[in-house]
Amino acid sequence: MWAVLCIAAPGGSAAIANSSGTDARPGDAIVGKEKADSERCVECHSIDPRTSGPNNGTGGKFAKLTGQSPAYIVKQIRDFRTGARRHDLMAMMARSVDDADVADIAAYFAGLPVMRGDGSRDVAPARELYMRGDPARGVTACVECHGDAGKGRTAGAATTPVIGGQEARYLERQLTEWRSGERRNSPDGAMNRVTQALTDPEIQALASYLAGL
Ligand code: HEC
Ligand code: HEC
Repeated sequence: MWAVLCIAAPGGSAAIANSSGTDARPGDAIVGKEKADSERCVECHSIDPRTSGPNNGTGGKFAKLTGQSPAYIVKQIRDFRTGARRHDLMAMMARSVDDADVADIAAYFAGLPVMRGDGSRDVAPARELYMRGDPARGVTACVECHGDAGKGRTAGAATTPVIGGQEARYLERQLTEWRSGERRNSPDGAMNRVTQALTDPEIQALASYLAGL
């Protein structure tokens, strides 16, 4: 268990959640920086757009959060809390912060330079899948939701994440878990559908391509 160095939550004024997964009170990035340090988020997630935290290791299991959509971060923390997204460690971390903390921490990470890779992994077939999809197999083009280079959304919800420049092994695992249904917290099951027909080599190629962006 973590020895949590508590910073008192601001006067019990928990932000009021609305159904779109955003907070009524906008986060404060300055306060968020202190909270991200004291709650140890930075240890695993890092603030360097090129890496996730120092203990990431060969498993590559930590996600980068720099430049991530704040509404996406807020939604994931809620999903970890409720079990809509299953992960024991993050469920514990998510329960150690309240909604106001999360809004602040999300604002802090969102304001940092956006995550990026080294640009050296242009995997042509993956790029094709990303840009055009494969309608015959029910694979919608990723670009339609995740935007050019995976850096943001082109349409739809504010909770669509940045995926370009994310950690490769993390991406590969998420795509595999969407396909198997182990992860199923995307709106209307969109991510479960688009990954259904993908093969293991395609998932690896997509993860590698995206990580390089
Ligand atoms: C001990 C390491 C550790 C700490 C500390 C930690 N996390 Fe995480 N976090 C993880 C791991 C591992 C995952 C990936 C979970 C998975 O595989 O589904 C993750 C995932 C996430 C995600 C989802 C990222 C995505 O792209 O979907 C968010 C958001 C997140 N953490 C926020 C936080 C916040 C906020 C804190 C501080 C309150 C925090 N984390 C503290 C290890 C950690
Ligand atoms: C219909 C819109 C849509 C399409 C098309 C789409 N995505 Fe997504 N994707 C989303 C949304 C929304 C989420 C966030 C789900 C949630 O709330 O957890 C997401 C999540 C993800 C994640 C998890 C990111 C993280 O940080 O954990 C990955 C990886 C991903 N998408 C990759 C892809 C790839 C690769 C494709 C193309 C094969 C694709 N997506 C197509 C909407 C879409």
